[in-house]
Amino acid sequence: MPEDGLVKLLREQLKVERNFVATVEKLIKNIHNVAAKLLLLETQKDSEKHAMILEGILKVISQEDAKPLWDTLLDSYVDKLVVKTNLERHIKTEKTMIDFVEKEIKGTKDEGIKLLLEHIASDEKKHHEILQTVIKQAYKIKP
Ligand SMILES: [Fe+2]
Ligand SMILES: [Fe+2]
Repeated sequence: MPEDGLVKLLREQLKVERNFVATVEKLIKNIHNVAAKLLLLETQKDSEKHAMILEGILKVISQEDAKPLWDTLLDSYVDKLVVKTNLERHIKTEKTMIDFVEKEIKGTKDEGIKLLLEHIASDEKKHHEILQTVIKQAYKIKP
């Protein structure tokens, strides 16, 4: 296997992320503060997401003829240009979500609500960047 050390680390981290998801699941049932509960829920969902990403990376780099991730293609018969157009449309949706959240942040004096909405806003900004990166990297012309 090409990246033995990395594979080992990824597997260990995957275990930690999955354990965290299970632990928060139990913990959350006994928490009676809404803000605390929502914030813990956020960390749990992030851990689920991290676990999925780690699994995906492991799947690719465990292959004997592993290539760089951006050069790894999926078998697909869908029209690449249609997908690209859809991705570009999604960028606009992300902008709408950012606008909503920013107005909501301005519209509340509640510190707990503000904090949670700010987390969503920073996620939306990240999503916007992710979509731009995907469009740039996945559709670049290969030499
Ligand atoms: Fe994580
Ligand atoms: Fe988003």
